[in-house]
Amino acid sequence: MSSQVLVTGGVGYIGTHTLVALQEVGYDVIVVDNLCNSSAVALQRVETISGKPVCFYRGDILDRALLNRVFAENQIFAVIHFAGLKAVSESLRKPIEYYQNNIIGSLVLLDAMRASGVKRFVFSSSATVYGSEAPVPYVETLQTGNTTNPYGTSKWMVEQVLQDTAAADSEFAIALLRYFNPVGAHPSGLIGEDPQGIPNNLLPYIAQVAVGKREELSVFGDDYPTPDGTCLRDYVHVVDLAQGHVRALEWLVGRTGAEAFNLGAGRGISVLEIVRAFEHATGVSVPFRVVSRREGDLPAFWADTFKAKQELGWVANLGLEEMMVDTWRWQNANPQGYQAVDTGK
Ligand code: NAD
Ligand code: UFG
Repeated sequence: MSSQVLVTGGVGYIGTHTLVALQEVGYDVIVVDNLCNSSAVALQRVETISGKPVCFYRGDILDRALLNRVFAENQIFAVIHFAGLKAVSESLRKPIEYYQNNIIGSLVLLDAMRASGVKRFVFSSSATVYGSEAPVPYVETLQTGNTTNPYGTSKWMVEQVLQDTAAADSEFAIALLRYFNPVGAHPSGLIGEDPQGIPNNLLPYIAQVAVGKREELSVFGDDYPTPDGTCLRDYVHVVDLAQGHVRALEWLVGRTGAEAFNLGAGRGISVLEIVRAFEHATGVSVPFRVVSRREGDLPAFWADTFKAKQELGWVANLGLEEMMVDTWRWQNANPQGYQAVDTGK
């Protein structure tokens, strides 16, 4: 069996960590990425960590001719599909771009896969598909939908497309990985999350406050029905998450159909607990101010992790301490992210 895995969006945050995890267990990796939210420097860093080359096609998943060439030039065993746009608030302003990239992009990719007979697929889905009404913890058997923004809806729609595809063609084997809140960075400090502009997500914002790029953290609301009034989320280390993709690839072999798996740690941590954990792990203080709620935030959600453990043999091993220390090591060593060393490739 071929050992080549196509990783779309492989230059991004979760993609780069997954490339390292794949190379560590002997897969050869091929990346398609248009660099709309990433820097090619990240791939050089991946090669430094693993000591192995990454085969890179710079281009768009909407470019069918490019995908045909990628499938023709390689013996691809499976596809891991990260490429897409991911900012919830931006998706409300740019729904067409989000549906275009996330839905049409996935359809073009799936059609190219079908045409070339590659039928193992791992999809980057999100806890957001459980929508705004689901009870916690989220379990995979819950009905999905009730999404509240185009980003979430795009993930939900692609899940439907993939379920239907697997039902229609019994050669397809598909894992829908529903990530909770990915944080942290590779322990080398060489790769990590590099948001453009003002970070939307909590940990990158905290890291930028700690490194002196931003004055203080705004805590979005302390009047939620939670123990300390701030929202609860299920933070999962990106290195654990990357490992989940390796497990999913193993799971696909010899299987057919589409199955969803939660990838989370299985417990809710509050915003204030994260601030304290960061300060404790790094010794750096994080000034913050409580402001009003951010529109669209749910009070609390976390994963039921039983299925991923039972079927994939995957659990999140790394704790809050590692998440904070690794975030800080990356941020401290790369205060401008990849930008300072970007050669413009
Ligand atoms: P990221 O933005 O760092 O990585 C996505 C990569 O895809 C980028 O390198 C970008 O340049 C590339 N890309 C985007 N559109 C493309 C296109 N049309 N053609 C080719 N390349 C394209 O994001 P990430 O955090 O690594 O997330 C990866 C995936 O996981 C996304 O699909 C995201 O929606 C999903 N996800 C992320 C989170 C999270 O909190 N990070 C949570 C749940 C799900
Ligand atoms: N938060 C702050 N201040 C900030 C940023 C975030 O207080 O500056 C709070 C939020 O209100 C929330 C928590 O920190 O309570 C986590 O917020 P993030 O933006 O880091 O993460 P979300 O849970 O809002 O979003 C994540 C992913 C989305 C996905 C969503 C639902 O980033 O892609 O989970 O699965 F859609």
